[in-house]
Amino acid sequence: MVERILPFFQLGQKAHGRLNIPRSWPDNLPLCRLSSSAKDTLTLADAKTGVLITGQTGRGKTSGPGRLLAKAYLRAGFGGLVLCAKIDEADLWRKYLHETGREADGIFFGEDSSHSFNFLSYESVASGADLEENIVNLMIEVARITNPQGKGGENEEFWQSQRKKLLRNIVGLLLPVDGNVDLLRMNAILNSAPQDSTQTRAADWRNSSALFKTLARAEQLVGTRIREHEYRLIADYWLHEHPSTDTRTRSNVIADYTGLLDAFLRGKIYDIFCRNTTISPDDILAGKIVVVALPVAAYHEVGRYAAAIWKYLLQRASQRRKLDQPETIRPSFIWADEAQYFSSSTDQIFQTVARSYRIATVFLTQNLPNYYVEFGGTEAGVHRVHSLLGNLAIKLFCGNDDTVTNEWASKTIDKTVQYRVSLNGAQAGEGHAIGLAQSEEFDCPSRNFIGLKNGTAVNRYLVEAIAFQSGRRWSNGRSWMKCSFKQNA
Ligand SMILES: Nc1ncnc2c1ncn2[C@@H]1O[C@H](COP(=O)(O)OP(=O)(O)OP(=O)(O)O)[C@@H](O)[C@H]1O
Ligand SMILES: [Mg+2]
Repeated sequence: MVERILPFFQLGQKAHGRLNIPRSWPDNLPLCRLSSSAKDTLTLADAKTGVLITGQTGRGKTSGPGRLLAKAYLRAGFGGLVLCAKIDEADLWRKYLHETGREADGIFFGEDSSHSFNFLSYESVASGADLEENIVNLMIEVARITNPQGKGGENEEFWQSQRKKLLRNIVGLLLPVDGNVDLLRMNAILNSAPQDSTQTRAADWRNSSALFKTLARAEQLVGTRIREHEYRLIADYWLHEHPSTDTRTRSNVIADYTGLLDAFLRGKIYDIFCRNTTISPDDILAGKIVVVALPVAAYHEVGRYAAAIWKYLLQRASQRRKLDQPETIRPSFIWADEAQYFSSSTDQIFQTVARSYRIATVFLTQNLPNYYVEFGGTEAGVHRVHSLLGNLAIKLFCGNDDTVTNEWASKTIDKTVQYRVSLNGAQAGEGHAIGLAQSEEFDCPSRNFIGLKNGTAVNRYLVEAIAFQSGRRWSNGRSWMKCSFKQNA
């Protein structure tokens, strides 16, 4: 069946070149429309349920629905965090900011050397009594972003508990001794840990090891800054348990952190993440647009670590806000193209509360198999992916030839009961009885996603997508709607 293609329509145009940013953000604030009908308006309440945009490369995710939403959120005065996979993403956002009159709010973190964010000291100030556990969780989350094992891989629980233990014994030692933690000292502890039980008794190791010296200082602080049983647990871990763990297990646990720490202790990355703080997630919540201009295509895992830090800490900062009069609190967005590089299971948990904390997440990705790979490719990983993407309630499916994604999209939209006319007893010489046969079919079969227009001059700059939002009936009376977006509007 051919759906009527609904014309593109957009709210929030500039009036006389001046931007009218709202001062309050009620749930029914209209942001944009997916068709000419007011019934297809996306409001702030919709945006907070999260958006997923899928589509094969070049099928219009960015220039179609992506562009419409990005500019609608900017026009409505949202703060924002943009995580970059591609090299041209920062320029795209520069353009969006210019077109919406928000240039003054743009901060291109990583490009502009005047901005830095010391995330450990930021978290230390923000955390209060839970400091140790919060820093451990932050480091786990950052390391997890590049490690599929931490997101649904084999024996995930075991590895995560080992990693947490390692970090607790680093952070738990540094905090009482120095009163704070930083990546340099964490690295020094990890690098000077004993390799086996004999080394723990060797005089040269004891004389040169930063870990051993810190342990000695902690022992002197027992009863004042560290409780005796806590000191015993830490000393026992470093002097007995850690060196006697079999080498493969130990190196597997350490590998995440040696890689991460090494990445952060060098050059520009050290300067922007380990010195002072000029910009933080609090600025995003106050209306800045931070583009983490360290694209994965150029910076590889460092770009992913950087994005993970910003995303995790923005999610946490949003949860610390008081929400007495929610309408007066500016919403913010988290934007991730090629979102599989930046997602973890904490996003799934966060998405279940994002609505209350006024965060509108937008994830773009080509297909589900790319996501599965980042989540370990195991059954557990696949479940995590479905659960995470399922929690983004608005889905805009652009053209796709990937059968896994198309079938998942069909299933997400749901089945309907179809009736077909059937002829019974149609054998030679018998009379025909006409009946209605009932069968279950996908309401939006996967073939619908194959031929959607991808913009460009050939298609008169129209990008098509199929829109779905859990529980919503669109203006066409159905749970899904084919809509079109103009690339050059
Ligand atoms: N403003 C525009 N005018 C005309 N064509 C455009 C415009 N922007 C993008 N295109 C073209 O439209 C098609 C869709 O591009 P777009 O970048 O939106 O796809 P995408 O789904 O985001 O792809 P990818 O997965 O590679 O990011 C491409 O052929 C692109 O070259
Ligand atoms: Mg794109």
